[in-house]
Amino acid sequence: MKFSVSAVAACAALLPSVSGTIFYAGVAESSGEFGVWSATATPGTGLPGRFGVDYSFISNSGIDTMVDKNKVNLFRVAFLLERMAPLSYGLGAKFNETHYNYYKQSIDYITKTKGAYAILDPHNYMRYNDPSSQPFSGSVIGNTTDKTAATTAQFGAFWGELAKRFASNEKVIFGLMNEPHDVPSSLYLANLQAAVDAIRKSGAKNLIIAPGNSWSGGHAWTQGGNEATGNWLHKLVDPLNNTAVDIHEYLDKDFSGGHIACEQDPVTNLAGVTAWLKEHKLKAFVTEFGGSNTTACATMLNSMLDYMSQNEEYIGWTAWAAGPFWGTASPCCTDSAQYGSFEPGSKAAGGGPSLYDTVWLPVIQKKVPAKLQWSGLATINGGALTSKPSHY
Ligand SMILES: *[C@@H]1O[C@H](CO)[C@@H](O)[C@H](O)[C@H]1NC(C)=O
Ligand SMILES: *[C@@H]1O[C@H](CO)[C@@H](O)[C@H](O)[C@H]1NC(C)=O
Ligand SMILES: *[C@@H]1O[C@H](CO)[C@@H](O)[C@H](O)[C@H]1NC(C)=O
Ligand SMILES: *[C@@H]1O[C@H](CO)[C@@H](O)[C@H](O)[C@H]1NC(C)=O
Repeated sequence: MKFSVSAVAACAALLPSVSGTIFYAGVAESSGEFGVWSATATPGTGLPGRFGVDYSFISNSGIDTMVDKNKVNLFRVAFLLERMAPLSYGLGAKFNETHYNYYKQSIDYITKTKGAYAILDPHNYMRYNDPSSQPFSGSVIGNTTDKTAATTAQFGAFWGELAKRFASNEKVIFGLMNEPHDVPSSLYLANLQAAVDAIRKSGAKNLIIAPGNSWSGGHAWTQGGNEATGNWLHKLVDPLNNTAVDIHEYLDKDFSGGHIACEQDPVTNLAGVTAWLKEHKLKAFVTEFGGSNTTACATMLNSMLDYMSQNEEYIGWTAWAAGPFWGTASPCCTDSAQYGSFEPGSKAAGGGPSLYDTVWLPVIQKKVPAKLQWSGLATINGGALTSKPSHY
């Protein structure tokens, strides 16, 4: 069949994009939110907690392996709002300076010593004041009928202060909130807008990533009627247009990341959010995804990583999860079996290979692009792509 030039162009426009670029790739560092969980939901459990005993942020040697050997350039580092802004101060611009300094040392190690990018991750589910039974405990930020709840303005003040402190570090990315859920979408958006306004008022030009509501699930983006994230998040205004979207997507039957079996095809499940991103000319990071060491999970992880690299809406990702405090426990996808984590050197219970050995190295590592951004401000348009420079 012979096509006219214009017919070829028209057909090409209908084909799915295969021109995507990943600028930022790596792993979530989970351990900073540890040490508070209490089966009896005892408020105050583990607060402030002992750094290096109850919780930690990164292990420098783990970061070294990930950057030097694995050539990743992005880490998402969890912390708790209740430790950074203690309950006795309230959520806002007054920080626990001791705690802040521990966190800053980790972010500086990643960004300045190793030259990678770091996402600041308040791991709080849009809640503040009782993390003891996360993800459900604590007052929803901005809930005006709950007299114990922090206000939307306080959330803004917190982010304004944190942004001011990291504004001079262009490798720092502001992740506004981990997995808001069971929050009315009007309030969810108002909280995010207060944070963006305060960040820009502080003078910081850093990339911001704004989470979806409903646990940030990509598959759920257009579900939930009027409350669907897709009806709200594009209304978030960033005067600098340097805000991307933060999506989570697990592959097990209920999208929780709790189960071994991968049964939810990511290409099908991300189609709706991808179309929404395209419609609103937005870019996205997937900052949580993962799978167990089954062959079905390897297949789905491969198709998910290929999908992100082929669709230009996706510019970065962090897999869930590494972190110095997991030990033989698993952050993802094992039906509670102790298969270890993505922390380099970690082991499964009994000393067998960890998820780092059985999932990260043979599957995810193979999809880390050879060239990533290694210098300059993180932006929604990415930056110059290079191999890892040798001076880091
Ligand atoms: C601040 O953090 C340090 C170190 O964890 C802790 O000893 C101290 O009690 C904290 N202060 C408050 C007010 O939480
Ligand atoms: C807000 O607080 C009220 C009073 O405690 C509570 O009944 C309601 O469920 C809260 N709303 C949300 C979204 O948590
Ligand atoms: C923001 O930047 C993107 C990418 O450069 C562009 O497509 C979009 O139109 C911009 N949006 C606004 C509101 O300026
Ligand atoms: C996954 O890893 C664990 C821990 O090393 C091991 O016991 C299990 O047999 C592995 N599963 C598969 C399907 O390879």
